[in-house]
Amino acid sequence: MKVLLTRKLHDFALKELKRKYDVETYTGKVPMPKKILISKIKDKDGLICYPYDTIDSSVINAGTRLKAISTYSVGYDHIDIKTASQRGIVVGYTPEVLTRATADLTMALMLALFRRIPEGNKLIQDNKWKTIFGPYEFLGTDLYQKTLGILGMGRIGKAVAKRAAGFEMKVIYHNRTRLSKKEEERLGVQYVSLDSLFRASDVVSIHSPHTPQTNEIVNLKLIKKMKKTSFLINTSRGKIINEKDLVTALKRKMIAGAALDVFQKEPINSDNPIVKLDNVILMPHSGSATVETRKMMAEIAVKNLVLSLAGKKPIYQVMI
Ligand code: DGY
Repeated sequence: MKVLLTRKLHDFALKELKRKYDVETYTGKVPMPKKILISKIKDKDGLICYPYDTIDSSVINAGTRLKAISTYSVGYDHIDIKTASQRGIVVGYTPEVLTRATADLTMALMLALFRRIPEGNKLIQDNKWKTIFGPYEFLGTDLYQKTLGILGMGRIGKAVAKRAAGFEMKVIYHNRTRLSKKEEERLGVQYVSLDSLFRASDVVSIHSPHTPQTNEIVNLKLIKKMKKTSFLINTSRGKIINEKDLVTALKRKMIAGAALDVFQKEPINSDNPIVKLDNVILMPHSGSATVETRKMMAEIAVKNLVLSLAGKKPIYQVMI
């Protein structure tokens, strides 16, 4: 069977794939241009792709022999699941293994915002460290007893709630479906409406998947409800926020700042106004970017593909 990789994977993963299949790996500029993707998928049985690749109906239908798609990500909003399902193509993804790493990055961004870490680093690099340890000099704020609002209480949202408990924060959340009373108690979280989440939180952290329902759900109307001292964090998907609205809010200092790991367009354009703002912390989509996590993701992506191509159930299958 023939397999296409839209980008290089770990060596061990490639080796395993090459033992079983005729593997073609795209090595050009990322993401793989659509035209090339469409021409290369034509004779392939399997595809391993990344969140940057748009696997829409034109790609899926060009793959007339395609039986399995395995994405190296937990998010699958870049794949037309409906078309894949209609064609009987199995779609595998990599949840669970990246929960901890993404929750850790969220806490790192939260601490960086609250304690002004990038600013402190820049201050020293610019040789502007003149006074130390005064009553008003370079103050941040405590996480202790602050309210964290979690939008999307899935695996990653819950892992963030657990970490926030360690910092003695108060955690409120909004989710499509409310957790059971028992689980709310176990996590120490309180369910609130979307409006209340934005009104009451000192920091809102987004952990929803990107779906038609969550597309640009965070807009100016919602951001306006936030306190001027509040922060916004997004380690989920860029398209959940109306980025123009967020830039407006940050420019007008309607909120204190934002930390973003994901954007409407990735990689971000250098002329994107968000890059120039001084009240943002930006990361290049790195939620799962640890040595350990990316290795586990590769293992699962390969297993998902191998099982699917053998006509078996993958470890993690996207269900419509
Ligand atoms: C995912 O797996 O969807 C993450 O966003 C990648 O870091």
